[in-house]
Amino acid sequence: MDQFRIHGGKALRGGVEAAGSKNATLPILAASLLADAPCRLTRVPNLRDTETFLTLLGEFGLRVERPVPREVVIDTSGAKTGVAPYDLVRTMRASVMVLGPLVTRFGKAQVSLPGGCAIGARPIDQHLKGLEAMGAEISLEDGYIEVKAKRLKGARISFDMVTVTGTKNLMMAASLAKGVTVLENAALEPEVSCLADLINQMGGCVSGAGTSIIEIEGVDRLGGYEVEVPPDRIEVGTFMIAGAITRGDVTIHRCVPEHVRSLTLRLRDAGLEVTEGNDWVKVLANGPLRPVNIKTAAYPGFPTDLQAQFMVLMTLAKGSCAITETIFENRFMHAAEIIRMGAKVVTEGRTAHLDGVKELTGAHVMATDLRASASLVLAGLAAKGDTIVRRVYHIDRGYERIEERLRTLGAEIERVSE
Ligand code: EPZ
Repeated sequence: MDQFRIHGGKALRGGVEAAGSKNATLPILAASLLADAPCRLTRVPNLRDTETFLTLLGEFGLRVERPVPREVVIDTSGAKTGVAPYDLVRTMRASVMVLGPLVTRFGKAQVSLPGGCAIGARPIDQHLKGLEAMGAEISLEDGYIEVKAKRLKGARISFDMVTVTGTKNLMMAASLAKGVTVLENAALEPEVSCLADLINQMGGCVSGAGTSIIEIEGVDRLGGYEVEVPPDRIEVGTFMIAGAITRGDVTIHRCVPEHVRSLTLRLRDAGLEVTEGNDWVKVLANGPLRPVNIKTAAYPGFPTDLQAQFMVLMTLAKGSCAITETIFENRFMHAAEIIRMGAKVVTEGRTAHLDGVKELTGAHVMATDLRASASLVLAGLAAKGDTIVRRVYHIDRGYERIEERLRTLGAEIERVSE
């Protein structure tokens, strides 16, 4: 297994380009199961999760070609339903997003129950509740969900809580259903709007994406698509915090500043100078770091996927603050690791109380999940001395060659095998 060796204390300076969004790429790939014509994606991020999803599409007869790096062309002529196997689904729970497309197009789908992951139980009851409302029969056997429906029919579905992949899954299911589906309490994430635009490009009829009420009028067939994957707002936010925590001056290019607005406002509250253009954001640290309380929330609130990274930044603030995680029940695992680096963090249920310290000191730390591992890299970049971050395969799921891109900003980081 690989690990990162980081020598901390260097201020990061310079520019880096945002990669395509993991959490936009996966539903776009799932949507190719709806298409009866070829599909083409550009700016595809080079990530473990992308590879896993492309392998998964092969289980359903899709042929994937990679003409040039970061481009994917999918021949959908051989599309058929099938089984999303446990060994793929357990490594990437986003696999559940094949359910909607497969059932609505082929009348049947079998997906291994994803099981929980490090950050929480991650149930999919909302996905299944919606499919049932659309007339699907659902059974659970040997850990596999089987969903069947002659043809899904439009329904009015109100989510009990905002669910990002639930919204995407049911939007895709509704796109070929008979009649109109209304999703209430839908997720507002930019990736949801990106998927809605894609389905409309394919000949579908989706309106209201970006609001909490999305209406989908089912059609009889959907064509292919050509799409450039939008920039990864969580990666952008991670690089912004890297600039902040190392007291540097970092610009992220080819991004959408609006998508990281909630972070920008809090970084300014924390005393960072954050400026932006139409496709870039710049973070300059030129004053004391002030403590800022945050509470994660669905978009456009503060993203749970940036909570760990922001917590590490706040360990060095001059004063105390509280960080509340409202989305997942176990997303403070990075706290135990940064405490070993000298941070003062006390977690009580879903709230972490921090008292700022003068500096962090390097240590051997263990990555536990994708965003926690990113936060440990940030801690290592800021810490005095050397840090070893182990099990960096977690980070490779959602960040493309992060050590190479941090090195272009002056970081002393290298990947070594354990
Ligand atoms: C998506 O996960 C993202 N993953 C997550 O990013 C992100 O943290 C999350 O949205 C929240 O923004 C992808 O897009 C691939 P949810 P998702 O359904 O859709 C509960 C990363 O680091 N819930 O919005 O799986 C659930 O337990 C990953 O890139 C149910 O109870 O999250 C959670 O508490 C991590 N039943 C809350 O809702 C359901 O049927 C939000 O989950 C569905 C969800």
